[in-house]
Amino acid sequence: MESQQIRAKFLDFFKSKHHHIVPSAPMVLKNDPTLMFTNSGMAPFKEFFLGNSTPKSTRIADTQKCLRVSGKHNDLEEVGYDTYHHTMFEMLGNWSFGDYFKKEAITWAWELLTKVYKIDKDILYVTVFEGSKEDGTAMDQEAYDIWKQIIPENRILMGNKKDNFWEMGEQGPCGPCSEIHVDIRSEKEKAKIDGKTLINKDHPQVVEIWNLVFMQYNRKANGSLEDLPAKHIDTGMGFERLCMVLQNVTSNYDTDVFTPLIREIETITDTTYGSDKKTDIAIRVISDHIRAVAFSIADGQLPSNNGAGYVIRRILRRAIRYGFTFLNKKEPFIYRLVDVLSKKMSAAFPEIKAQKQLIENVVKEEEASFLRTLDQGLVLLDRIISETKNKEVSGDKAFELYDTYGFPIDLTALILSERGLTLDEKGFQTELEKQKNRSRAASETITDDWIVLKHDAHEEFVGYDILEANVKLTRYRKVTSKKEGTLYQLVFNMTPFYAEGGGQVGDKGYLEAPNGDVIYIIDTKKINNVIIHFAKNLPKELNETFKVVVDKKQRYRTACNHTATHLLHQALREILGSHIEQKGSAVHSKYLRFDFSHFSKMKEEELRDVENFVNARIAGKLPLQEQRNIPMQQAINEGAIALFGEKYGDSVRTIRFGQSMELCGGTHVQNTGDIWYFKIISESAIAAGIRRIEAITNDAVKDFYTENNTAMLKIKSLLNNTKEPIKALQNLQDENAALKKQIEGLLKDKAKNVKQELKAQLEEINGVQFLATKVDLDQNSIKNILFELGSEMDNLFAVVAASPAPEKAILTCYISKNTANEKGYNAGKVVRELGTYIHGGGGGQNFFATAGGKNPEGISKALEQAKTYVV
Ligand code: ALA
Repeated sequence: MESQQIRAKFLDFFKSKHHHIVPSAPMVLKNDPTLMFTNSGMAPFKEFFLGNSTPKSTRIADTQKCLRVSGKHNDLEEVGYDTYHHTMFEMLGNWSFGDYFKKEAITWAWELLTKVYKIDKDILYVTVFEGSKEDGTAMDQEAYDIWKQIIPENRILMGNKKDNFWEMGEQGPCGPCSEIHVDIRSEKEKAKIDGKTLINKDHPQVVEIWNLVFMQYNRKANGSLEDLPAKHIDTGMGFERLCMVLQNVTSNYDTDVFTPLIREIETITDTTYGSDKKTDIAIRVISDHIRAVAFSIADGQLPSNNGAGYVIRRILRRAIRYGFTFLNKKEPFIYRLVDVLSKKMSAAFPEIKAQKQLIENVVKEEEASFLRTLDQGLVLLDRIISETKNKEVSGDKAFELYDTYGFPIDLTALILSERGLTLDEKGFQTELEKQKNRSRAASETITDDWIVLKHDAHEEFVGYDILEANVKLTRYRKVTSKKEGTLYQLVFNMTPFYAEGGGQVGDKGYLEAPNGDVIYIIDTKKINNVIIHFAKNLPKELNETFKVVVDKKQRYRTACNHTATHLLHQALREILGSHIEQKGSAVHSKYLRFDFSHFSKMKEEELRDVENFVNARIAGKLPLQEQRNIPMQQAINEGAIALFGEKYGDSVRTIRFGQSMELCGGTHVQNTGDIWYFKIISESAIAAGIRRIEAITNDAVKDFYTENNTAMLKIKSLLNNTKEPIKALQNLQDENAALKKQIEGLLKDKAKNVKQELKAQLEEINGVQFLATKVDLDQNSIKNILFELGSEMDNLFAVVAASPAPEKAILTCYISKNTANEKGYNAGKVVRELGTYIHGGGGGQNFFATAGGKNPEGISKALEQAKTYVV
């Protein structure tokens, strides 16, 4: 059975059991501050388990793209080394929200596996939760009894809390689970060792394939459990592992999910999978990681230097590094796998095909840039090796290479061992641990339980129509973190506050109690579909009716920028072409930022055309035409633009201004005329094939022109109020260039003289040609002179000072390499120590270093002290 069919059969089966089939939610989460990536099939449904919203159907099934590379579930380091872990994988799942429970979940799972997929009963084992003293939970007798009807008791194993109790996170819904495992070893192997003893023991052919979770508790902040108001089912079956079983192979990588990728890697790198352990690991790593990276980019997450983007960058770099070291590929090649991936996956996930070109460009560019980093790292490593006196490279040097230059530590270790050196791994681990502790301490957050004031409250967003409302507090909790101190999260029965989402910032404003007390709302965010208001304090009386008021000015400016973003999107598609896809947007009150796919820098006239296009629509005073709660399909038929990587519900909101129509939940002006004016501030590249425009509207444009005008007047006045400031500036620049040239010539002459003077001052002390003096030259000339002097002798120790400006002092130290090595001198140390006299600091290498400071008075003392190094 091909993987396509296997997936389809799962969905068809649950459809026949009256489940509503939904498409996979995006793998990269945009509007969930608690999670970067979808890490299990249930993540998109958290809000239902928490009771924050009600699903349209109480039975749902899907295949969900998941990524387990950060946080509670992280498999990254295992991937490649075994044959059944992945970064990205598909989780087939069926859910009951307060509908069926253990009996149906278990019997259907069994029916699907043994009747539909026809898996031999004799290779299946199941596990049941044994109970936990710590939590005060009993053994799951109910599940046991149901299984007993289905499978011989000697195939039911008991499992502990670690294996058989599933939790979404530190807090929240959780419950016992029952797992189904397969034993696909050969008969011979089975005869030798009983499969039962290998369950949950990391055997590559005795693996869990399906986890049935019986959600019935809520884990509170203090660690205790309480019953959930309704019981739910959450199941997750590893699609790739299921394919392994059904395709009669013993590794996920031998299924048709991976073999096309592996064949392509073999062709490109001229290797054979299965011929060598290290090559095989590398091939598995690359075939796995390209999936994770490609799907993330398709979902709108580009590799970057922070957050989710950094995780993606690290995954891709891991793949590049394995290709570099074990497949000997020194030029980009991973991007070439995207084509095969797209052919394999696009029937189930069309986003890969639609964005193929972009994914290829981004991956290729990342590869090229990381290969450059590796090259640079190799040079640095060479230097470290040449400076290493004993046979061990210190942990902090290796850490610097890793931390500052992104050079992988395992590569460092490998190269060192090839050169007969060792790495102080312990020292490296200590540095790494220190860094981790620093960032852990900085991000530590304590989240208290919700205090619920009103149970039946139904929270309603009224902020499209009004900016003030009288509300009741329904629940709140305290969250304490190092970064933000103590904040209170408040939830009201209704709210006019817009929660951050769709690129638009959350509203700010205030809450007023009947006694006149005011509490500021500093931000608004949606967490698990609940609108949460952040405040520094709590109202004194919690059960009052409060007036909550949105900051109108900020909202208005933000609305101007949001509407302008839509018009900009339309303009780009009109002027540059329909290949333009929105790749990110940030709508603030002060500016807007729009990222989009386009392959070349925009020309000046294109930018002007785009600005004119938007401004023409502002001048055209187009009214807002909004539709709320219309079916998704209707919106698409009417021409609304939907974005890749966004999660849309069945009913959506559309925003139209003239010909621009988008699916959008944000806030907008009533009429484009309100925007007043639109101005592009910058256009730049943020990745291969992705451009970024930053622009401003309304008051910000006025400020922009006022500032520019003030600057212009100032420039004119500095240029003696000339009528032609541009020409005057050009003249000044030309004159400046000519003078610079002249000075350079003069300095050269002067340097020649100074060099002779310095030579005359050399003093032989303990076999060293010593010199400590002050000259009247710039830093670069001093450096040149010292290098020239250095080339004429091999025992120079010179400290030269200068004061190029009244409050500026510089020290330069040159020590011949021979002398530095023999006598253990270090120029960096010298300038750091002497630098204290000039109230400054600096550094460099052991043979050449410079320091700068603010205290020229200290120069004579510094020069006096210089001698102490050689006497
Ligand atoms: N949520 C369960 C898991 O991820 C099914 O294993």
